[in-house]
Amino acid sequence: MCGIVGYVGQRSALDVVMGGLRRLEYRGYDSGGVALVVDGTIHSAKKAGKLLNLDAELAENPLPVAHTGIGHTRWATHGAPNDVNAHPHLDETGRVAVVHNGIIENFAVLRTELERAGHDLLSETDTEVVAHLLHDELARTPDLSDAVRAVCRRLEGAFTLVICDAEQPDVVVGARRNSPLVVGRGDGENFLGSDVAAFIEHTRDAVELGQDQVVTITPDAIVVTDFFGAPAETTEYHVDWDVSAAEKGGYEWFMLKEMDEQPQAVADTLLGRHSPGGQLQLDEMRLSDDELREVDRIVIIACGTASYAGLVAKYAIEHWTRIPCEVELASEFRYRDPILDKSTLVVAISQSGETMDTLMAIRYARQQRARVLSICNTNGSTIPRESDAVIYTHAGPEVAVASTKGFLSQVVACYLLALYLAQVKGTKYGDEIDDILAEIAAVPAGIQRLLDEGDQVRKLASDLSGARSILFLGRHVGYPVALEGALKLKELAYIHAEGFAAGELKHGPIALVEEGLPVFVVVPPKGRDQLQEKTVSSIQEIRARGARTIVLAEDGDDDVIPYADHLIRLPKVPTLLQPLVATVPLQIFATEFAHQLGHDVDQPRNLAKSVTVE
Ligand code: G6P
Repeated sequence: MCGIVGYVGQRSALDVVMGGLRRLEYRGYDSGGVALVVDGTIHSAKKAGKLLNLDAELAENPLPVAHTGIGHTRWATHGAPNDVNAHPHLDETGRVAVVHNGIIENFAVLRTELERAGHDLLSETDTEVVAHLLHDELARTPDLSDAVRAVCRRLEGAFTLVICDAEQPDVVVGARRNSPLVVGRGDGENFLGSDVAAFIEHTRDAVELGQDQVVTITPDAIVVTDFFGAPAETTEYHVDWDVSAAEKGGYEWFMLKEMDEQPQAVADTLLGRHSPGGQLQLDEMRLSDDELREVDRIVIIACGTASYAGLVAKYAIEHWTRIPCEVELASEFRYRDPILDKSTLVVAISQSGETMDTLMAIRYARQQRARVLSICNTNGSTIPRESDAVIYTHAGPEVAVASTKGFLSQVVACYLLALYLAQVKGTKYGDEIDDILAEIAAVPAGIQRLLDEGDQVRKLASDLSGARSILFLGRHVGYPVALEGALKLKELAYIHAEGFAAGELKHGPIALVEEGLPVFVVVPPKGRDQLQEKTVSSIQEIRARGARTIVLAEDGDDDVIPYADHLIRLPKVPTLLQPLVATVPLQIFATEFAHQLGHDVDQPRNLAKSVTVE
């Protein structure tokens, strides 16, 4: 949600900033802008729409060469996505330029105060007040860092700010409260970015910033303080992936590349968790086994795709550990006054580690003394930093807005958590845990097979690309798969798509079924529980009413053949692991469907990958 870049050094600041913005464009793409400091003047350019529009503007009206600059790619909150509301925002004298991610909640009060004092604000944004407040502050406090600290003390809400000053040419100042900002440490140059992708091309050495901190970068120094100027402790880390991981590598879309990386993401998430002695180890686990033995209830909180990983986890956790588990949307969680105490384990799932709804939910949970474990793909991000324990998914950077490898690796991490709890609680013997881990370890080959067989799904997507509504049905862990299949299609193709629990169909949704309506059905593996048989009955019911059935069933399940207009074969896996394979054809379908409609697969309209506002 908004990407921010800052640079000071010897290179062309415009090249560094634009390169960084391109890597951050997944965070928002309503508009883009840059500001450069040259000879005591700020030169800026900004344009509504994707960065391509800003590129065109810069080609038509080039900016002078500079070595200090900031940039922004926006996901609009306050004010329409037009040129005027695009960042950077300048004060009236053009001395300071500000880019911002987040929402300044008291901006209306501040704006009124500024207007009464004679300031003329041009945009509808909350951000512009910061530029004008800085203008006034710099009249009293000439040092930019001091002025930024003074202004930050007046702001409420969530904000990452990056600022440059025409009168301090080798300095860029950043500030963060609730929204993300990391520092890249270079040699004779330093960087700021919403995440490390912004500067990964130039350095893999990063510095984490904490809550309510201000950072001042010059070519040779990085100085971090709190909002009152007291020096702050920082954590340095080395990024374990490089620029090639953040590039398309010959694929047309990041999403296709990320789907193809899923066998590796699943394998890497399992890697190193199982010691030769047979004990499962989660080394980011900062909760003791005694503390975990006290857990008598688990509440999973997450948003979007991550919440569907949470739904899968509920089945695995309850089945393997017998600990009651519930799943809640993070945006709803704290508003229902949930009952929590120190024996409640709250599990937050977030690919980015920055989703504001999830972050606020874990802060609430910790205030209520619950223990918080997060499952996250982004090292050093806020949610794991504020958790008692973390399981990192090792999927590598995910750039496409719609999550694919992020989801599968979250599901794997959820299984690992469930098995770890089963080990600690003694609800599973070591050899049973070994067997399940071996079954998970075999899944990447199945995922690879589905990717290799993707053409038949792409053909289906092309045949169905005229459909305006598609339903998805599943039972047990197939239900979250159905929800995820529908979400992918909504996100990418902008058509009506809904997932239902197959058993619930007869209680209402079956009324939606009409002649020719495509309905995907995920069929559970055959087992003692009769779920396969019941799902086959659901297929018959919808087909009798005219639905065009697309059936996902495991190899050897021939019961479905008479009722499937299209049959997608899934590799045989145990029921609880089926989401790892069944999701893959649905991802391929949504991607191809959107492609057929001419949509931007990586950057769907109105969305952003990392939603850092509530
Ligand atoms: C946004 C994205 C979704 C994602 C959700 C949660 O809404 O568009 O694709 O599932 O955020 O993101 P997280 O980073 O917390 O997993």
